[in-house]
Amino acid sequence: MFDTSSPAELRATEYGYLDENKHIYLDHTGAALPARRQLRAHADRITANAFGNPHSENPTSAASEALVRSARHAVLRFLNADPREYAVVFTPNATGAIRLVGEAYPFTGLSRLLLTADNHNSVNGLREYARSRGADTNYVPLDEPELRISDDALDRALTAAGGDNSGLFAFPAQSNFSGVQHPLAWIERAQAHGYEVLLDAAAFAPANRLDLSVIRPDFTAISWYKVFGYPTGIGSLVARRAALNRLRRPWFSGGTIQVASAGGRWHRMADDETAFEDGTLDFLSIPDVEVGLDWIRSIGIDTVHDHVTGLARSLLDGLRALRHANGEPMARLYGPLGSDMRGATISLNLFDPRGQVIDERAVSRDSTARGISLRTGCFCNPGAGEAAFAIDPSALGGVTLTVTGTVDDYLVGLGLPSGGAVRVSLGLSSNQADVDSFLEFVTDTYRDRTPRTDGLEPRLHC
Ligand SMILES: Cc1ncc(COP(=O)(O)O)c(C=O)c1O
Repeated sequence: MFDTSSPAELRATEYGYLDENKHIYLDHTGAALPARRQLRAHADRITANAFGNPHSENPTSAASEALVRSARHAVLRFLNADPREYAVVFTPNATGAIRLVGEAYPFTGLSRLLLTADNHNSVNGLREYARSRGADTNYVPLDEPELRISDDALDRALTAAGGDNSGLFAFPAQSNFSGVQHPLAWIERAQAHGYEVLLDAAAFAPANRLDLSVIRPDFTAISWYKVFGYPTGIGSLVARRAALNRLRRPWFSGGTIQVASAGGRWHRMADDETAFEDGTLDFLSIPDVEVGLDWIRSIGIDTVHDHVTGLARSLLDGLRALRHANGEPMARLYGPLGSDMRGATISLNLFDPRGQVIDERAVSRDSTARGISLRTGCFCNPGAGEAAFAIDPSALGGVTLTVTGTVDDYLVGLGLPSGGAVRVSLGLSSNQADVDSFLEFVTDTYRDRTPRTDGLEPRLHC
């Protein structure tokens, strides 16, 4: 559908609004940015025709239905997933996809939920579904300093005694804290031990090829806005049909059933993915998923991968080289220092010449003043933060956020000198000038200086 140029050329055209507004956008793990032509395609489509609620056979409904069906197929094609084996459920985002699995997963007192310690909170939250049904929950710990998980640690967790060793294993293909990419071979390994696998591909999919004919997670969660910026309210649960059939939804709603009787108090769920799509789909936006997929395909996901990997390498090298005049390093990076098996998500803290950590709120204030969009805190990934800051695991059980306590009290209780890290992340619309601007910002603002920390607002979350 699209005829494209290289990512470097696209910056001036499709992503021209960045430089026109002097933005240095370093939050691609938060959200990718849309190409102008994606937005034009949306406007062209909805101004050229009428689209009705898809749950019917009238002409406007059928037009919507056809585009939704086409988008489902486009998702499967993008992931090289055989439609006989996989189904696509449209959700509001990756979190919505994960929740669908959690609320319907047949956890019992004998089954287990196994999580890696660097899961996003949207995966950590599965714990509550497992716990409420008596299932055991376990975390596989991270190794410092790379914040990876060894094959041995995974094997130990997969074979640990307890329950019948069946259940759900959930992990991120790429950590949204450290950028670590875990081996996708873990999927088959866990399945061989009786687990079903939920792969959180939210941070991985934007710049990495995911081929579901090679790896076969039972459930894969994706947010499309992280891949191509627009639309912002659509994600997918891509599930093996057999795994989807084992889920038991706790309710039914409009759009999810074949028949329901009010008087008879019974219902029969739809026998396909629509059983998981509550109410009316966002039928004016779902077709834009196909537009976005066409856009990425026209550039080539491997081209996107090489582009962001090269920029990440340059940023990692640049950060490691930053020194104060007294030779003290200016930055400490959390996670892998090289670009092998890691994405372009880089977490760090900055340090003053005496080796004291610079409060992440000061970095947020100063970078904002420079037009830089980055993230500070723990990015909804407490486990990776706890490992990065080497918090003694025995301390974690004893320190909680009391009803009257503040987030700052909690951090002091943990003995942390700051409220988390600084995260910079790169994507398709990034360029070398963004990397250079960030390094210049750090040097200009903090080299041989201790920034002021007066007037920083209390932290509301971490
Ligand atoms: C690895 C990972 N998983 C899950 C999520 C949740 O995505 P969403 O907020 O789009 O549901 C994110 C968001 O940053 C993420 O990075």
